[in-house]
Amino acid sequence: MVRVISFISIKGGVGKSTGILNTAHALALMGYKVLVIDFDFQRSISDNFGVHNDDLNIYKALIDECDINDCIFEDIRDNLDLIPSHNQLYFAPDRFKQLYFDGEDYVLRQKLKKIEKNYDFIFIDGRSEINSLFKNVFLACTDFIIPIRVEFMGMRAIKYLFEIISKSHHRPHFIGFLLNDVNKRRKATGEIINYLEKERKKDLLKTRIPSSTKIQEAFKNKKTVLDYPLKTRGHQEFLDLAKEIIKRIQT
Ligand SMILES: Nc1ncnc2c1ncn2[C@@H]1O[C@H](COP(=O)(O)OP(=O)(O)OP(=O)(O)O)[C@@H](O)[C@H]1O
Ligand SMILES: [Mg+2]
Repeated sequence: MVRVISFISIKGGVGKSTGILNTAHALALMGYKVLVIDFDFQRSISDNFGVHNDDLNIYKALIDECDINDCIFEDIRDNLDLIPSHNQLYFAPDRFKQLYFDGEDYVLRQKLKKIEKNYDFIFIDGRSEINSLFKNVFLACTDFIIPIRVEFMGMRAIKYLFEIISKSHHRPHFIGFLLNDVNKRRKATGEIINYLEKERKKDLLKTRIPSSTKIQEAFKNKKTVLDYPLKTRGHQEFLDLAKEIIKRIQT
């Protein structure tokens, strides 16, 4: 059965898009059939893959101006498909209110039913603001990861996120916290690390994504770090992360 995974955060710039892009590619390289849905109106993943289409994108599919099947751009990489986003997705919450009598937070989940049988994994890249777009992502996912960029984040951001999602009746499986942008020379310290290691140890993913200029460079050059040789900093870690995700969703 398909697993629909999102990386969620209420803080921007923590590595959601980078994490999704590289993890999706790693799973595709392992032979799984993977779809990435860009659900951010700033379109970082669509831009990364150089895909832009005014008529066929997730926004048009959600407002029923096209069939979601027609929005799938196939074989971005072997086994890896993409549904691009569009700037107009910004207006989706208002459009949903006009179009749907109720259930406006379930539009994405409903649409996924038409395509999910074709995939082992679907990744949804959303935004950090808590609004209807965020809820559409959360309510569509079966599993989620919380990426942590230690220097960017305090514990309050994590606790607040859990407080918000605990109000939902939907209970997706929490895969774990992913430490991102970890600098080996600078030991990760601080209240957030203390909290995760002491109180949430079993939820802390073993794989840590290193600070890597190649990860950043790849993102700017329409590549993933998995397009670079195995010795590239970050490549092996995303393969390890893909394996750890599989292990965690099987147990
Ligand atoms: N491990 C890493 N090493 C180096 N740079 C990284 C790493 N992870 C992310 N970055 C860089 O940090 C920036 C923010 O990452 P990214 O866009 O993935 O975050 P995001 O959470 O999706 O942000 P937004 O909230 O804006 O969508 C990007 O320039 C990305 O290349
Ligand atoms: Mg992003």
